[in-house]
Order: sequence, then C-alpha cells, then structure tokens
Amino acid sequence: MKAAVYYETGGPEVFRYEDLPDPTCHPRGILVRVEAVSIEGGDVLSRAGGVLATTPHVVGYQAAGTIVEVGEQVTDRQEGQRVVTTAPFGSHAELRSVPVSSSWVIPDGLATEDAATVPVPFGTADDCLFEFGRLQAGETVLIQGAGGGVGVAAVQLAKRAGATVIGAASQDEKLEALRAYGLDHGVNYRTADLVSSVMSLTEGRGCDLVVDPVGGNVLQGSLACLAYRGRAITVGNASRESRLVDLGGLGQGNQSITGVYLGAELARGSRAYDMIAGHLRDMAAGSLRAVIDRRFPLAEAEEAHRYIESRQAFGRVLLIP
Ligand SMILES: NC(=O)c1ccc[n+]([C@@H]2O[C@H](COP(=O)([O-])OP(=O)(O)OC[C@H]3O[C@@H](n4cnc5c(N)ncnc54)[C@H](OP(=O)(O)O)[C@@H]3O)[C@@H](O)[C@H]2O)c1
Repeated sequence: MKAAVYYETGGPEVFRYEDLPDPTCHPRGILVRVEAVSIEGGDVLSRAGGVLATTPHVVGYQAAGTIVEVGEQVTDRQEGQRVVTTAPFGSHAELRSVPVSSSWVIPDGLATEDAATVPVPFGTADDCLFEFGRLQAGETVLIQGAGGGVGVAAVQLAKRAGATVIGAASQDEKLEALRAYGLDHGVNYRTADLVSSVMSLTEGRGCDLVVDPVGGNVLQGSLACLAYRGRAITVGNASRESRLVDLGGLGQGNQSITGVYLGAELARGSRAYDMIAGHLRDMAAGSLRAVIDRRFPLAEAEEAHRYIESRQAFGRVLLIP
C-alpha cells in the first residue's frame, strides 16, 4: 500500500510518500480501504515531536473507508460495509487494520468523508461539555480554539443543548463562519483582550464553563474567564506552550479545572462508544454537521499539515488516498 510516512519527527517536510507492506487483519479486527483521512490536531502534534511507535511511522488517529477483510472471530461486520475508525496511529495510508471495537458502521445517508470527521472531535467535545463539564441549558460556555476540529464540534453541541456560546479564534473569518454553526459571540484574541471581552459579554459574571484545547497562556486566560463555581476543562495543548498554570485564583470562586481524555473513556465500557454512534446518527439526520475545509491527496500530506499549521484551517482538513 501507499502511505505518508516519516522516519523522524519534525516539521511537515518529514513526510515521505512510500510503499509499505499491506497491514494484516487481526482475528478480532477488520482491514479497511481508506477513503478519507481526517487530520486530527493530535496528528500534527505527534508528527512535530515525541517518540516514534514504529519506523517508518504512519501517523494518524482517524480515517473512514470500506471493509475489505473481516477477522475470523468477528461476527458483526461484513466486507463492503462503510466504517469510520480510530486508533493511536496508522490513518495516513491506503489500508488500515484496526480492532473491530475501534470502528463504527457509517449510517445510511451519511457521506464517508463526513463520517471521517466525527469520532474524536465530537466525542471529545461532548465529554468536555456534558460528561465532565456538566453544561446546562441557559449557561454560558467559552470554547477556545473554536475554529478547530474539537472547537466546531463543541460549538454545535453546546448550542443544541441550549447554552449561550462564546468562541475564541485568531481570525475574524473563522468567527464569522462559526455563526452558521451556533456561535452567539466571537472574540478574536489577536485584536481584543480575551478576558475583558468575555467579562463584558457576560456583564462581569464570567462563564459557567470553558473548554480549552489550546493550553499554555490561553489556559491561564480560560481560568480568568470563569464565573463563580465555573468549570474549566483542559483537553489539549494545540499551542505547544508550557502547561504550567497558576491555580491560585480558583479557590476564591469555588471554581474547578478538569482534564479530559476521550481515549480513557473509550477504553472503559460502552458509554463513549455509544455516544459517538449517536453523533454519527445525528449527522446522518442533519442535526450535526461535518465542517470540511479542504481536501488534499494522501501524497500531499506535507502540504496538508503545513496548511493546518498556518492556522488558516477551519474545521477539518482531509487526505484522500
Ligand atoms: N484529550 C483528548 O481526548 C483530545 C481529543 C482530541 C483533541 N485533543 C487535543 O485538542 C487539541 C485541539 O485538537 P483539534 O483537533 O481541535 O485541533 P485543530 O483542529 O488543529 O485546531 C486547533 C486550534 O487551536 C488553535 N491554536 C491556538 N494556538 C495554536 C498553535 N500554536 N498552533 C496551532 N493551532 C493553535 C487554532 O485556532 P486559532 O488559530 O484560531 O487560535 C486551531 O483552530 C490538540 O492539542 C489535540 O491533541 C485532545
């Protein structure tokens, strides 16, 4: 099979487009011909640094396609079915072998490309908002990195639940586009002070919940935006800045901060798996929407990652094998 691989971490230029042996199908797994790779925020971070699990390495959490082989112990999947898959790596390739438990059958009426954008961003956003963030109708939520994959999912889910949604991003164009997905107020943190803007939008009260996939200095600002009894969720470090934050102010307002990792939930029982199956059904029914900015051929993984790192991407960028 063809794959976008790298032999060392670094900038997007580390990608090579090469032939690799086809992966084999595990007895409890499926082999999938990939039709759409969703480049996740974590894929960009994995490529930029850290230890390689394999060499050459095929990066990537999430891809959708068609089953071409079913493991001998699998009873609930068939060749020819369309599925979306997640795994710690391996999405940037023509073929992908995953445990059946890391796959969701794509409902009729949902395009394979759209399904490719669902499990990690929507599952993560849902857990940040509701399972751990306890968001209620009528509350106000601030979504940092609102134009990213997790961000656009969080904006849609929060609005659907009856919250007032404030989003922060680096460009007015992203904030304007987010209005179609439910954003009530946008703050461009490059041209306005985030904390004072949020305080002004909430009449000095602050936000009941902040979802922060950016980290670093942005996370410090997130804590400063909390209302009395406000909850902050730290769910990523897209900024790649230091994760040290000063928690000194939280006690005075009975505020809290919680870390969220979807993988830990998927590894424990069926709740998170079923939640994501629900997102796929909702997208097929039209109550959630995939946000796909651009498509690149798999051979152009370098250009696709470069585009994401330029901070212009809105929602998801796909690779098409
Ligand atoms: N814990 C979990 O289970 C989990 C699950 C999914 C993702 N994550 C993490 O959440 C983070 C976001 O994921 P994602 O898929 O939403 O990523 P994404 O689609 O690439 O979006 C990231 C957003 O972060 C903002 N950002 C701020 N500083 C940045 C910087 N220095 N470089 C790049 N972007 C920057 C960008 O918006 P602006 O330019 O508008 O600021 C961008 O829209 C990642 O760290 C990812 O690893 C964690």
